[in-house]
Amino acid sequence: MTGETVRVAEPRAYAEGIAGFRLLDLVVDRRVLIPRPETEGLVEQVLAWARGRWGNGEGGTVLDLGTGSGCIALSLATEGRFARIVATDVSPNALAVARANAERVGPERLPEFRLGHLFEPVVGERFDLIVSNPPYIAEPEYAELDPGVRDFEPREALVSGPDGLAHTRAILERAGEYLAPGGLVALEVDSRRAEQSAGLAWVSGFRDVRVERDVFDRPRFLLVRKERA
Ligand SMILES: C[S@@+](CC[C@H](N)C(=O)[O-])C[C@H]1O[C@@H](n2cnc3c(N)ncnc32)[C@H](O)[C@@H]1O
Repeated sequence: MTGETVRVAEPRAYAEGIAGFRLLDLVVDRRVLIPRPETEGLVEQVLAWARGRWGNGEGGTVLDLGTGSGCIALSLATEGRFARIVATDVSPNALAVARANAERVGPERLPEFRLGHLFEPVVGERFDLIVSNPPYIAEPEYAELDPGVRDFEPREALVSGPDGLAHTRAILERAGEYLAPGGLVALEVDSRRAEQSAGLAWVSGFRDVRVERDVFDRPRFLLVRKERA
C-alpha cells in the first residue's frame, strides 16, 4: 500500500458540458445521466414502429418516462412526426436540464415536461407509445459500478431496488392503463435481465412481447404491444 489517492477522471461529457445523441448535441451536467449509444437504438425502435403505423404522416402520442437530459423525447420530436410528446422525471434538477435542451434544440413542437413519479403526472391520459430508459441497476451492484459512473452520475438515474427491476416492473404493471389499444411500450432493459423483464410483461397481461438487440448485440430493448380493442 502506498497510501496514494486514486483520482477518477470526470467523464468527458460532463467536463465539456455536451453529449452527442443521434442528431443532437445536448447540454449535460451531473444532474442527468449522460445519454448512451444503446439508447439511440431505443429511439430507432420507436421511430421504426411509428413509421410502420402512421407512415410518413403525422400521428401518435408519446410518453417518455424518466426523461433525464430529454434525449429520447427531443430526438422523437426532431426525427418523428408525433402529434404530442409528454416527458416526465421525478427529479426537478433533471427536468431543468431537459427544458434547457428543449430550448436549445428548438423542435417545431416542444415536448411537455412534467414532474413526478412514473405515471403520476399523466393520470387519466392515454398514449400510443410509452418509452422509457428507466434505472435498472440492482442495489448490490451499485458499489461495483465503474467509478466513472458511480462517482459522477446521479444514483437515482441508475439504481432500481434490490433486483434492478423495480422501475421496469412498476412501468409494466401499470402501462396497460395508460396505453391506447394497439399501443407500444418500448423499454431499455439490463441485458442480464432481458428474459426476466419479458417475463414481467407477460405477468402484467401482455401477450405480444419481443426483445431486440442493441448495437453491441446484447438483448436490450423490450417491445410490448397492447392488443387492439
Ligand atoms: C437511466 S436514466 C435515463 C435518462 C434519459 N431518458 C436517458 O435515456 O439518458 C433514468 C431517469 O429516470 C428518472 N427517474 C428515476 N426514478 C423515477 C421515477 N420514479 N419516476 C420518474 N422518473 C424517474 C431519473 O431521474 C433519470 O433521469
